[in-house]
Amino acid sequence: MKMFTKLRLRLTLQYTLLATCVYLLLGAIASAFFYSGLTETIDSVLGEVANSLDDAVQYNGSTVSFVHKPLEHVHLSDKHAIPTIQLWNASRVLVEEYGPHGTNIFMAGESEGQAEPQVRLRSVNKPVHRGEQIVGFLQIQLPVSGRDDAIREFMEALTATAPFLIGGLAATGYFFASRAVKPVEESFALLKQFSADAGHELKTPVAIIRSACDNLADDLKDYPAAAERLEVIHRTTERMERLVLDLLLLTKTEQAKDEGRKESTVPVVELDMVFREILGEFGDLFEEKEIELYADRIDSAHVQADKDSLYKIFSNLLRNAARYTDKGGKVTASLEVSVDYATIIVSDTGIGIPPESLAKIFDRFYRVDQSRARTGGGSGLGLAIVKALVEKLDGSIDVTSEAGKGSTFIVKLPLYNVAGRPT
Ligand SMILES: Nc1ncnc2c1ncn2[C@@H]1O[C@H](COP(=O)(O)OP(=O)(O)O)[C@@H](O)[C@H]1O
Ligand SMILES: [Mg+2]
Repeated sequence: MKMFTKLRLRLTLQYTLLATCVYLLLGAIASAFFYSGLTETIDSVLGEVANSLDDAVQYNGSTVSFVHKPLEHVHLSDKHAIPTIQLWNASRVLVEEYGPHGTNIFMAGESEGQAEPQVRLRSVNKPVHRGEQIVGFLQIQLPVSGRDDAIREFMEALTATAPFLIGGLAATGYFFASRAVKPVEESFALLKQFSADAGHELKTPVAIIRSACDNLADDLKDYPAAAERLEVIHRTTERMERLVLDLLLLTKTEQAKDEGRKESTVPVVELDMVFREILGEFGDLFEEKEIELYADRIDSAHVQADKDSLYKIFSNLLRNAARYTDKGGKVTASLEVSVDYATIIVSDTGIGIPPESLAKIFDRFYRVDQSRARTGGGSGLGLAIVKALVEKLDGSIDVTSEAGKGSTFIVKLPLYNVAGRPT
């Protein structure tokens, strides 16, 4: 069922989007934790080196210097990482440097700087005390390329797995969406089956009542009061019969559409001729209601469709236009051909449809204003039938409307290509 396929796909999409957002968020949080963890490790290594070197610094009363070459005293767990060791005097002038070239900027506390354009360094700076006095500073630095590479690899791994993960999420999402939609689908099928059964079961009794009424009318010719009451029964029964027939037509069309059943020999008809014919038939009705019926551009077009369906589609749209347009209004009908489609437009200057009802008017038994529609005589099945018929013909129907201004119904039907196949 097309309707539920859409619902299923929408649920899947929503679930996948949500899960992807969670994945991205978790990835970002994990990267941030990873990054700050690695940075802390570097800082603690740098701090330890600074502490271990404190004793190697001597102070002669005016300036500081190392007692011996400090690198021999530094033992790092990572043998490849050689720290830059700098000794600054109390006036923050660099006096000694060992190891790879570091930054020559004094950087208080823990921070990051650039040694050369390509080399980024993490730096820890600790004051050297002699008594109460700060006599100099030890500034220890290590490149952060190891940390940055690790983060980059982590991000790359996240990105590389993302398509598989999202694919997997979409698949699970689809599975669960299908399970969630199934009961809805089943009750909808049940509803359709009920409509079909009710239609079938009611058809015969209603027909019998109507013909009994016809017969009784002759018998009651001489009793005007009774004849009047019979007339009410007769009218109501006719209405009921129309409703039952509409219901049967709707369920039959929908079943054919659901099962993808196609009548083997659907005739090719001249759509413009059929359309003109129907417009002609509606002339009287519009005249009677004092509404102008204006046939705009009507292109010639061939479509593969049975005349009955076309008649039902257009007569329903025109009857609605007449019913929901006040005296003095105007209804415009047109048929335009584009590359693949014939587009039939029925537009009125009537009461319009409120936006919240637009999506529902194609539902069975839905009417914008229940009380008004009942006096108008409609059953609320008209547009449901129109939609089912249009879709059975592989077409589509759309509506735009503005309350108080009017409505426009747009039907698109695939053109029949003279070469013998539908385009
Ligand atoms: N041309 C139109 N202008 C305004 N409202 C419309 C129009 N066509 C349909 N509607 C609204 O859509 C509802 C459903 O239409 P339909 O299925 O044909 O049922 P109905 O038997 O009431 O005509 C109508 O009751 C009406 O409220
Ligand atoms: Mg109608």
